[in-house]
Amino acid sequence: MTTKQVRIKATLLKELARKHGTPLFIVDHAAIRSNFTEFTRRLPRVQAYYAVKANPDPAVLRTLYDIGSSFDVASIAEFNLVYKNIGRLPAKERQSYIWDKIVYSNPIKDRRTLQELDRYKPLVVFDNSEEIAKIRRHAPQAGLVLRIRVPNTGSMVELSSKFGASPGEAVDLIAEAQDAGLTVEGLGFHVGSQCTNFENYVQAVATSASIMEEAETRGFHLRLLDIGGGFPVRYDPHVRPFRELAKILNKELDRLLPKNMEILAEPGRFMVGSAATLVAEVIGKSRRDGKNCYYINDGIYHTYSGILFDHCQYPIKAFRKGSRSISAVFGPTCDALDTISQAEELPELKLGDLVYSENIGAYSHASSTHFNGFPPAKVVHVNQ
Ligand SMILES: Cc1ncc(COP(=O)(O)O)c(C=O)c1O
Repeated sequence: MTTKQVRIKATLLKELARKHGTPLFIVDHAAIRSNFTEFTRRLPRVQAYYAVKANPDPAVLRTLYDIGSSFDVASIAEFNLVYKNIGRLPAKERQSYIWDKIVYSNPIKDRRTLQELDRYKPLVVFDNSEEIAKIRRHAPQAGLVLRIRVPNTGSMVELSSKFGASPGEAVDLIAEAQDAGLTVEGLGFHVGSQCTNFENYVQAVATSASIMEEAETRGFHLRLLDIGGGFPVRYDPHVRPFRELAKILNKELDRLLPKNMEILAEPGRFMVGSAATLVAEVIGKSRRDGKNCYYINDGIYHTYSGILFDHCQYPIKAFRKGSRSISAVFGPTCDALDTISQAEELPELKLGDLVYSENIGAYSHASSTHFNGFPPAKVVHVNQ
């Protein structure tokens, strides 16, 4: 939660659940707008490209589009989702939008994706030689951003084991791309998602600045830095507020980078994490190993998929009052992996009771499956 953020009131959650049924994924667009405004206000030099993967709901994209967001896409399907908002613009305006406001951030791109993207002359990320050859062949009109490997220490989701050229090879890769007739526009990095160790950003900016200096001495001028995602959501009060990170980042960006350097960021979680609440229903109950066990109609294969894929835990709250005991909460499928929590403090619940989880807007519904015949939670939008 950002400090100022207003939670959706319990009465509204219950009313919506009564009206639409459960499981219900309630997206608060006022919260999305507030997160976007906070991000851009506190990082005035940075252009925010919302990372679509965090929540690709077209209504979410529309709200961010309307408020002036740029977009980070990482598949052709995500590109097309963003394109839907600009498809009707006059051709010239549409092309400018793609140049100025979309980055294709996945360092690995299928050749067919590149073939489709080429006509849009997009900005694309790469981190190795094979990719240079592929881009040269299939999307030679693209502008390039070299992703470098930076420390992801302490981040909830580590990305550096999979992506990023080592800083030592960076300038050689830039030279290789330029020799291939491509244009390298800048550098990028990702400090890992839900990065609560702000030193990762400090080090990454410093490494980028020194690579840029080295590149300049070898005749390669880079005009942009993409500082990626990682901006944390305050899932708990131990997470330092965004304003502290912004202060540190602004200082480092001003200290180390020329004033005319374009700075991009790809926040996903920060924009939508605090902007959704899930309401589910207790559909079964048992007592096992001396503990109350509740079976609810959403789980690990669905909105709570972030527990597995995102390494995120979402506390479960009850509307019912009463003395609480440590309880287990399971999802509806037949798999024991479908365990949301073995230790949730809950009052004695009854079948049909509603429970809810806040701050569940990022990497949750996006990775929901249809496993075991249970569809993803229904989505409703409030404050649109
Ligand atoms: C390339 C890239 N950019 C941006 C993001 C969004 O990161 P976050 O949600 O931490 O802001 C991710 C997440 O995995 C990513 O892989």
